[in-house]
Amino acid sequence: MSYRIISKLVDFLPPEFLHFLFLNSLKLRFFKKKKRFENLQTNVCGMSLDNPVGLAAGFDKNAEAISGIFDLGFGFVELGTVTPMPQKGNAKPRVFKIPEFEAVIQRLGFNNLGIENFVRNLKKFKKKKNNFIGVNIGKNKNSSNSFEDYSLLYGIAKDYADYITINVSSPNTPGLRDLQKKENINELVKNLPSKKKKPTFVKISPDLEEKELDDICDIALENNKIDGLIVTNTTISRPLLTTRPIKNSWKVDEAGGLSGPPLRKLNNKIIKKVYSRTKGKLIIVGVGGISSGKDVFEKISLGCNLVQLYTSLIYQGPNLVLDILSELSYLLEKHKIENINNLIGTNIKL
Ligand SMILES: Cc1cc2nc3c(=O)[nH]c(=O)nc-3n(C[C@H](O)[C@H](O)[C@H](O)COP(=O)(O)O)c2cc1C
Repeated sequence: MSYRIISKLVDFLPPEFLHFLFLNSLKLRFFKKKKRFENLQTNVCGMSLDNPVGLAAGFDKNAEAISGIFDLGFGFVELGTVTPMPQKGNAKPRVFKIPEFEAVIQRLGFNNLGIENFVRNLKKFKKKKNNFIGVNIGKNKNSSNSFEDYSLLYGIAKDYADYITINVSSPNTPGLRDLQKKENINELVKNLPSKKKKPTFVKISPDLEEKELDDICDIALENNKIDGLIVTNTTISRPLLTTRPIKNSWKVDEAGGLSGPPLRKLNNKIIKKVYSRTKGKLIIVGVGGISSGKDVFEKISLGCNLVQLYTSLIYQGPNLVLDILSELSYLLEKHKIENINNLIGTNIKL
């Protein structure tokens, strides 16, 4: 039976419980889908990757199922968001599926077991060649000093990660997105430990004003502690959700961040702006609404070096990554592009 049929049959179960089941099936190494595509191999930050498609933050917040995630065919994995102390997150229900659009609205609020548990799990992971791992860090909701939270997490995580993502863009932690402001992001980055630095990315929101986006691009260009931008987190806007819900499992005005296909166009618009302002001098990781190889092709041609996805994995299941990679590899051949790196920023339209 296909994953889509199974997921329709169990759709009455709470999304967070289904996520728990999926994560645990990955821990048990149920799926082995890995396949190499010559034309998708890429290099970033001095590491070679089997392909440029990664798992976005939020799926494995506690670094529990890393090997199982790589089994799905991902070229890299971003773990977290992890905070210094464990925290429960917002009250349930807080994840809402929007089946009509294969989208999700959620307001989890960095529920996670804290950095101590995270590192314990990460130490157990047997790293193989080409396993590129990012750690996404965030502040505790009740933190008295946000900058200290990031500095502490960075200092610990850098010994285990290939790159670190500074998450200042989740809409579900009050005040977090203010850290994207010029003076705050400068202060935050200044406070990071500089010894044995790791490639560092800042994850931005799709809801930034034009000026704020320009500022953050300029800061990233000027500050040699920042190597790239992850574009983007979920949106508090509600693009394309124009119809009335067919199912009453969600409301248009449900608070939280929207992800999945309705985010794609807004996300691509931001990627375009970031690329035109930074002109290949920064690494751009594109994330928002990817559900096919064509979507990946589009983002890389707009200027991304790497891409990530999350929501489509919920709807399409364990075969998704291999389907995407096969389609992407075929599209490159069709357009006579020898390697995925040659697609970056070409603006080729499909
Ligand atoms: C259930 C869920 C939880 C998420 N948790 C996090 C998180 O902890 N940290 C983070 O930076 N982004 C988080 N995100 C955002 C994703 O990493 C990604 O930026 C966003 O969902 C857009 O990609 P997508 O459309 O492929 O899902 C979460 C997304 C979802 C759907």
